[in-house]
Amino acid sequence: MHEFPDPRDAGQARSWRRSRMAQAAPPAPALRQVLRHLEQRLRAEPDCAHPLYLAHMRKPPHEVARLAYAQVLHRQFNNHAFDGGEATSSMELECVRQLGALFGWPDALGHLCGGGTVANLEALWLARESWLEQPGAVAGGVPLVVGSTQAHYCHARHASMLGMAWEPVAVDACGRMLPQALRRVLERGEVACVVATLGTPALGAVDPLAQIAALCAERGLHLHADASYGGYHALAGNLDADTRRSLDALREADSIVVDPHKHGLQPYGCACVLLRDRSLGRHYAHQADYAYHDPTQPHLGRIALECSRPGAAAAALWATLRVLPMVRGGAFASGLERSHAAALQLWRALSADPTWVVLPQPQLDVVAWGVRAGGVQQASRGARAVQQRARAAGLHLSLTRLPGAAAAADAGMAWDGPEWLGLRACLMKPEQLDWVPRIVEELASAARDVAC
Ligand SMILES: Cc1ncc(COP(=O)(O)O)c(C=O)c1O
Repeated sequence: MHEFPDPRDAGQARSWRRSRMAQAAPPAPALRQVLRHLEQRLRAEPDCAHPLYLAHMRKPPHEVARLAYAQVLHRQFNNHAFDGGEATSSMELECVRQLGALFGWPDALGHLCGGGTVANLEALWLARESWLEQPGAVAGGVPLVVGSTQAHYCHARHASMLGMAWEPVAVDACGRMLPQALRRVLERGEVACVVATLGTPALGAVDPLAQIAALCAERGLHLHADASYGGYHALAGNLDADTRRSLDALREADSIVVDPHKHGLQPYGCACVLLRDRSLGRHYAHQADYAYHDPTQPHLGRIALECSRPGAAAAALWATLRVLPMVRGGAFASGLERSHAAALQLWRALSADPTWVVLPQPQLDVVAWGVRAGGVQQASRGARAVQQRARAAGLHLSLTRLPGAAAAADAGMAWDGPEWLGLRACLMKPEQLDWVPRIVEELASAARDVAC
């Protein structure tokens, strides 16, 4: 008994925790050895913090997030119940309030969760539960979830998991959902939810949300905005008018997903679901024999699909928002603006080079383009070759399927293969604005080397 501190003595408790951690660590040589091995395993990986890393939607967490996470980590707070971590649960509620306020919903119901995929699952499930409550819902009927062909793949999979059907809607040359095509699907009825994407995975396209919201409002449909990638861009002051209008229309959605682990500078494991109408919380109603017995406390597990969730993630986001508040014109917003400016600069440089076939101007900070060739088959081979050559020179890009037979035809390319693969660059890091000339140079050199 004597080795445990008096819980009423904070100083004793602190030094006990420290000594326990020291005892728990393996002896120094073993620790050094395992960490060295770990480093060796990581060595071959490209560093996503480098400005020449543009392959995927990865950017390193901010230092304050890493430090706050580490500070809280060893105490293993669990935000499912208020008494699993009162401090971190309160921080989570503050974060949700701030993220809601970003979209004009300071009173939204919401919580953090593991990622955009599970956050979207939750939104679709809530939409289905609300649809089932409607008097007109046909028992045994299969409600539709409708989203663009460029929406994240998780929506189609979620629809099938939830016993719903996924109906893809055509996009324009920018990769944005076509409202007239959406209208045609809606006229068929049986729709439980429309998913609009603000920042599509392949192109960073932003669906015309104001028009989509009007179509949903006419029919009383649940509108879910998957703003996993692009939600934070609501703060950017340099977007084109259409994109701005769509981001401003986020307030008209019924549910929003935004991922702090994408543009919010957080470690992975941090997405957020927001619900405009707090009464949607009724769908979560459940009992737990072992928890939630104080009904006056805000137990986050009572309004979330996941049970255990890291208090450390909430603490990291909370600390980051204190250092970098989400205000227009602030340092965080200016980082997003620089990323968009970098994407535009890269797109202009690619447009001026006949080696490439570009799509319309990027709306956020993702640029996708093709290699000019006689047909899409050769263009796809060229894109693969450029990607590999560039990687050898330290420039990391990803491959993406490009939409739009029209863009290929405009460039005089035959549609002679199953798909048209192009290159994709995610310019998420503000410092990449200064690196665009170097990126362009490396691309031109890779294209020369592989004789594009
Ligand atoms: C628009 C969109 N939705 C959902 C997701 C899935 O998010 P996560 O990878 O956090 O599960 C992504 C991932 O890139 C995305 O871009």
